[in-house]
Amino acid sequence: MSGERTAAALPSAGLPDDEVLAQLRANRHDDADWRNGRIFGLIFHPDDDELEELLAAVSREYLAENALNPVRFPSLARLERETADMMAGLLHGTPGAGGLTSGGTESIFMAVLVARETARKRGIEDPVLVTAVTAHPAFAKACHLLDMRQVRVPVDEGYRLEVDAMRAAVGPDTAMVVASAPCYPYGVIDPVTEVAAIAREAGVLCHVDACLGGLMLPFWERLGEPVPPWDFRVEGVTSISADLHKYGYAFKGASVLLHRDREQYRTQWWFDDGAWGGGLYGSPTAAGTRPAPPIAGAWAALRHLGEDGYVRMAGKVRDATRRLMAGIEAIDGLHVTSTPDLCVFQFGSDVVDLDAVADLLAEQGWYPNRQPGGLHLMVSPYHLRVVDEFLAALAAAVEQARDGRSSDSGPATYAGQPS
Ligand SMILES: Cc1ncc(COP(=O)(O)O)c(C=O)c1O
Repeated sequence: MSGERTAAALPSAGLPDDEVLAQLRANRHDDADWRNGRIFGLIFHPDDDELEELLAAVSREYLAENALNPVRFPSLARLERETADMMAGLLHGTPGAGGLTSGGTESIFMAVLVARETARKRGIEDPVLVTAVTAHPAFAKACHLLDMRQVRVPVDEGYRLEVDAMRAAVGPDTAMVVASAPCYPYGVIDPVTEVAAIAREAGVLCHVDACLGGLMLPFWERLGEPVPPWDFRVEGVTSISADLHKYGYAFKGASVLLHRDREQYRTQWWFDDGAWGGGLYGSPTAAGTRPAPPIAGAWAALRHLGEDGYVRMAGKVRDATRRLMAGIEAIDGLHVTSTPDLCVFQFGSDVVDLDAVADLLAEQGWYPNRQPGGLHLMVSPYHLRVVDEFLAALAAAVEQARDGRSSDSGPATYAGQPS
């Protein structure tokens, strides 16, 4: 942390709106230029102006409403139910057996909570979560917050969870096993059928983290692409997280957590005993007050795009991914690290320092994600427009980095640090 930080102070008198907006906009001078498709993470750009207008209108419509109380705002309860049901239909789940959360991390947190509570009912005092090393850090965070232990098993040479290692790691204290569909770093799907079979044999829960794939894989399948079994059609899968604010193209703050049955969904709910004096308090997520726009926005995005729209988006993403992968393989010194199942992948190099390449790309406003094994891309529909431009910038940066330049930008960073 630097000591140069200046503390903001509340203005003594309110400022005119145009001044507030001017300050807000000036403050954005160093933000990534996502509108031009120059970022490959954090933003999922659908290249759909009508959808953007619709979401802006929806957020205005629901600017102040609070989803905490379904009695005051029953419309929100209906939108949440319908959104979860549309998702359950897509993933071959059960209507009424899930709900919305604020994002992948909260969906995972609630799934881990359900696992802990279920295990405790079975008399397990210190429940354990078994995941691959490639599982998203949200699982480690959930274990930290819920005081559970996580056992991480290795992945094979294709970066998929090693089934034998998972079988060996499952024991009497196991509460839940986890598979990713796909995992973030390499974009590959763990062997869900085998993981779910281990769960069934052991009588434990099995969560599929489809935060990335939940709204892409069903349409990938409709495009005729090979998709291994991963959803509720696989016996033994007991819950699935799928992010509406990623490949659902809703704005931020929307994910679903779906359970195999309604009984399990009930375990997710918290009810206060009423002793606090403020009346009955029940809630299905970690938050209390819940903003309405992400719920209404997720519902609106699903209705706006429909199955056709998502298939169209998936087609663009597939084409952009193929062209990016082929273009990267064609650059001397670069190779795609894994064989991704979807539209998320890492590329590496044995000859150039990819951090230096990323520095050079950043000078031109391009932001592939940095990770220890190389650079990482999550492809959105808009990227189809910039494939050639990006590949040209990448090839030029690799050429420049061949002179042995190395980076001083520090370790790969996925998320923030305290300021
Ligand atoms: C596979 C996977 N799981 C979970 C998450 C966490 O989602 P969020 O950042 O919405 O909390 C991500 C985020 O990229 C992810 O890729």
